[in-house]
Amino acid sequence: MKTLVILSSILGDRSNSKQLADHLIARVKAANPAAAVKVRDIGAQPIPYFDGNTAGALFTSADARTVEQHCIVEMSDALVAELMEADRIVFAVPIYNFNLPAQFKSYLDHVARAGVTFRYTSEGVPEGLVKGKQVFVLTARGGKAEGTPADTLTPYLRQMLSFLGMDDATFIAAEGMAMGEVAALEGIAQAKQRIDALVSDAAPASLAA
Ligand SMILES: Cc1cc2nc3c(=O)[nH]c(=O)nc-3n(C[C@H](O)[C@H](O)[C@H](O)COP(=O)(O)O)c2cc1C
Repeated sequence: MKTLVILSSILGDRSNSKQLADHLIARVKAANPAAAVKVRDIGAQPIPYFDGNTAGALFTSADARTVEQHCIVEMSDALVAELMEADRIVFAVPIYNFNLPAQFKSYLDHVARAGVTFRYTSEGVPEGLVKGKQVFVLTARGGKAEGTPADTLTPYLRQMLSFLGMDDATFIAAEGMAMGEVAALEGIAQAKQRIDALVSDAAPASLAA
């Protein structure tokens, strides 16, 4: 199993979503010390916004691209390739202003590639091509919203990942990060317990492999 971890917090080592990802990586390594884990931190090394230059580069045929356009497509291709190569994908996603960080939206914009990561069938039905992955979304938020209409991140992200073929993602949230020290510690501990429960072979999305 190759594991790809995408970190997207702007808070570096103080990030709570990173803390959850580190915990999950530790559990994966404990279950299988030889497990291959690749970490990409798009909070520390942001991906450029998907702007007019990016769209122009992707829509220009390879033989007609400028050097700058080649570089843009190369980066997008590299993001897609590592996603496709992974068997297990972990997205560590903070909630900023009721939704995902701009850095992570940029990432999704780059990997949502028609004909590569999704396509439309002859009936015009979208089909995700990032298939057969075990997907975890580890979120952290200042307040509490999981399972309520105030959770404006999960429905969007579920739909987006499902559109790309990742339709069985396991979401784990650390909540109450800005509600005082006790609530924050409790929120992290509960999320870590949920990650620990995934180590069992019997867990629906097991980390044991
Ligand atoms: C710019 C910014 C915006 C935030 N907006 C929200 C929000 O809308 N709702 C919420 O519950 N918490 C919000 N928070 C709190 C974060 O969700 C919380 O700090 C969480 O731990 C962020 O994840 P991270 O530590 O991995 O960066 C915000 C924090 C920042 C820095």
